Amino acid sequence: MAILGIESVVYGVDDLETCTRFWDDFGLAPLSRDAHESIFEVATGSRIIVRPRANTGIEDWFDWPGVKLVTWGVDTPEALEALVRDLERDREVRRDEDGTAHAVGDDGMPFALRVWAKRTVVSQPDPVNAPGCIQRLNQHRKWRSRARPKTLNHIVFFSHDYVKSFEFYRDRLGFRLTDHSEGLGVFARADGTNEHHSIFWVNTALPVAPDAQGFMHLAFGLEDIDEVMLGANIMAERGWTNTSANSSGGLSRHRISSAIYYYMDNPGGGEAEYHCDTDYLDDNWVPRAWDWKFGALLWAHRTPSFFRTDHDGWDMRFDPEGKSLEPFRKAALSDLPAGLGQISAQDEHAL
Ligand SMILES: [Fe+2]
Repeated sequence: MAILGIESVVYGVDDLETCTRFWDDFGLAPLSRDAHESIFEVATGSRIIVRPRANTGIEDWFDWPGVKLVTWGVDTPEALEALVRDLERDREVRRDEDGTAHAVGDDGMPFALRVWAKRTVVSQPDPVNAPGCIQRLNQHRKWRSRARPKTLNHIVFFSHDYVKSFEFYRDRLGFRLTDHSEGLGVFARADGTNEHHSIFWVNTALPVAPDAQGFMHLAFGLEDIDEVMLGANIMAERGWTNTSANSSGGLSRHRISSAIYYYMDNPGGGEAEYHCDTDYLDDNWVPRAWDWKFGALLWAHRTPSFFRTDHDGWDMRFDPEGKSLEPFRKAALSDLPAGLGQISAQDEHAL
């Protein structure tokens, strides 16, 4: 029994035409479009469904555009039914005609489950050369004309109680704890995928977070840094930018997850993230607890102000039992680690 990752997301947006153009430029493969919705997919078969906010067919549960519903893909019908039976013990589960199951987590955020025939993706990133480490001799790198996202890598929501959000996904949906950025949020991996995290909940108590729970961003997996750079350049040429990303360095690498990233403002709400070279994990991974200042990102040409602090080493400890989560249940601003309550809006992308 396994959840294989994000099967689909449904966006509720203010301007369907502009949002459709954004995803075209972003490199998603179009599946269908009409006056009511645009549907795109990536190589795994994960779908991005874009509808006007007034007519998503889903409760408009937070007050800005963005992903209103995430549907997790389950590997078999038997696994789906087992998950549904468990959920029905203490909550309503609504079924669509196609068997899709809808429920609400302990944190009040809706989600769905559906059987998914996830497609296998095979990548062939070029070997990387370095002085004294020649892995590509007499061989040039491949050349691309477009960035084409391969996977829907992870989704991020703001949560009033990120411990409660995580524990529901762990206890009822089989997700694994990956890493905890103390006071800031928690990363979790669906049991049927190896990507560092499938979902991340960010604390609404942070000054840079909205007061309400809701959508933050969606990340797409690309083959390598060449493809991320190409995508970033194409999007910038076409006018899709991110002023906050500029303040955190634009193209950079996270420390937690090791992934190279590039964020853009999405007219459909929140941000869209190109992402590559993430850590891949299995159940041998030992979860870790991170100092929030240290865990966020690694390189930036304009480093966020809070990041300019001295660290005497790798400010992380192993936390196999997730004990570091305990003090952060329903974290209020007053409970946050020193300094976390004072970070400024320009530092948002270091999170
Ligand atoms: Fe991300």
